[in-house]
Parts: sequence; C-alpha cells; structure tokens
Amino acid sequence: MSLPDQASVTAQLAAFTADLAQAGSLRDAQAVRDRFLGRKNSVVASWMAMIGGAPPADKKAIGQRANELKQAIEALWSEYQARAEQNSRPAGAIDVTLPGRVPPLGRRHPLTLVRDRMEAIFTRMGFAIVEGPEVEDEWHCFDALNMPAEHPARDMQDTLYLAAPVVGESGRPDDTRTMLRTHTSSIQVRYMQAHEPPIRIVAPGRVYRRDDLDLTHTPMFSQMEGLAVGEGISLADLKGTLTAFAREMFSPSARVRFRPSFFPYTEPSAEIDISCWQCDGGGCPMCKRTGWIEIGGCGMVHPAVFEAVGYDPERYTGFAFGIGIERVTILRHRVQDIRLFFENDLRFLEQFPY
Ligand code: DAH
Repeated sequence: MSLPDQASVTAQLAAFTADLAQAGSLRDAQAVRDRFLGRKNSVVASWMAMIGGAPPADKKAIGQRANELKQAIEALWSEYQARAEQNSRPAGAIDVTLPGRVPPLGRRHPLTLVRDRMEAIFTRMGFAIVEGPEVEDEWHCFDALNMPAEHPARDMQDTLYLAAPVVGESGRPDDTRTMLRTHTSSIQVRYMQAHEPPIRIVAPGRVYRRDDLDLTHTPMFSQMEGLAVGEGISLADLKGTLTAFAREMFSPSARVRFRPSFFPYTEPSAEIDISCWQCDGGGCPMCKRTGWIEIGGCGMVHPAVFEAVGYDPERYTGFAFGIGIERVTILRHRVQDIRLFFENDLRFLEQFPY
C-alpha cells in the first residue's frame, strides 16, 4: 500500500461520510465509525502501523495524516450523533424503550410487625385490643395503681412531666400534674373505670421515661399491657395465658417461669421469663447461659387497684402483665442496638420480612 498523503485523507473522509449516510441504525453507524477509527484493523490504525516500517523521512508526515484523518472523523461522528439524537426524539416525547423504574415499596416497621403478631395471638385467645392516651395524669398512671406520692417512679428524674399542668379526668384535687405515661398500665385503670368485668384486654402503646440513649435504653419505647378480670381468675390462668403466648410467639416448646418480683399494682408480682428458644433452656449466648429470657412483668391485680376503679375486690380477681415490644423484637430478630428502631435507616428496616 502506498504511503498516505493529503489525497488519501480526503478520499477516506469521503468514504466515511458515504458509508455513514448508508447506515440504517445506530449500530450500523457505530460499525462504520469503528472501521475507520477503531483501535484494531481500522483505517486510522493501519496508517499508524505504517509509521514503524516507513523511511525515516516519511514517518512524521504519515503520523500527521493519520491524526488529521482521526480528528476529522471524530468531528463528523459527533455531528452525526447530535443529529441522530435530535431526529430520534421530538421535544417532550417519552422514550418508551427506557427500562421502567421500580417504585420503592414501603413496608411495615419491625416493631409494628411484632406488635401485630402479638395482637393476633392475644386476639385469638379472646383478648380485645384497646388504647389509651400517651399524655396521662398522675392519678391514672400512679395513684390508681397503688403508687403513692412518695413512690420513686414518680420522681422528676424518671418521669417526663408536662410543663403546663392540666386537670385530669378523675376530678380529684391531686390530679393536676400531667405527664407522658411511663407504662401502659394506666390503660388498665382507664378501661376498668369505663367497663364492668369480665374483662380481657391487651393494650399496646408507646411509653416514655427520662432515660439517656444507649444500646438498651431509649426515652420512648413500647409495651403491651394485658389485663383479665372476672370471678375466680387465678395465677394459673395468667401462667397458662403467657405460656400459650410464648409458644406461638417464640417456640412451640417454650416454657414460662415466674420470678418473684414487686410491682405496687400486683400481688403477688413476678418477672416473666421464657425458656430460651435458641437453646431450649440449655444455655447459650443469647440467654447469657441461663436458659431463660425476661420479657416483662406480671402479677395478680392488687385489691387497691380494684378499689380505685370501683370494683369489689372481694368479688373479682384478675391478672395483669406488661411486655416490652422492643425487647421481644430485639430478642426475636437479634437486634444489637435499640436505637436502630428509631433511626429510620432503610438498610436496617428492609431486613425485616413482611
Ligand atoms: N408496668 C410495668 C413496667 O413498666 C410492667 C408491668 C408489670 C405491667 C406488672 C403489669 C404488671 O401489668 O402486672 O415495667
């Protein structure tokens, strides 16, 4: 092949223009461009390859011709692309060949999933689901639950009082301080005031305490309260109810253990321990090798509570319990840090199946 000169550049440009005009699609056009400009076996590449074997006096000129051709083709190619772009899409048109966009799907929060599951289990056992206000008065949250004025839980250190006192619904003179409820037990009081036994309710809701944030504490968390009142209700009913719950919620072989405790509104009172569903009670890291996991508190309703709501404590007995919903969720799904529930990081939230 003779060495390329100015005429060769002109001829190749004409050929490129003609071939490009013939191209029926973008793909064809790209093939034309590659035939002239591509890194291998193209016109430009073959000119570059000639430099090595050319007489020294010609090397520079060949390089210049190759560059000239390359730049001219690149310019023509950009023009071609700009034109193709304009022709293919009238202003405002929709490109129906674009891949569709998948809208991000919302999903329920892990605490909601667990709460729903707990509600379903208790509903099947005949419990009604009720709610109560998050802004409470001291009477419903403390006094009526047999927690007298000097009770430590009423301390400003633990309870979030509202700046403006509002007279509560009890009408009592001491019912003037309002607060964010510290537990869902206040709902027991409200429900009993408004209903006669027999009663079987669970009451989920948010509660608030003056805790600093750390791995296991947040100033807001959620509980599910339970209450059953009637004639002849016993501790055995409480244990049977919680065992049935634990078997559905955690494991078919779950057992419930009562650890003696104290709450002013129950007598006797107990902490609710569930046999560890990871090791079935044998001892593992999840239950800190004890075989048991605590999920809440419970007991038989204290007669003083019945008196506060106007029930006859001679006639009625009842059981009550309070279960931490974050606690159940953390244990069930092995969440390492309670704060994750409240940060709304999708990378966390998306890990919970529907
Ligand atoms: N109110 C208790 C708490 O917040 C939980 C609790 C314990 C609720 C015993 C009850 C109960 O109904 O009987 O820790």
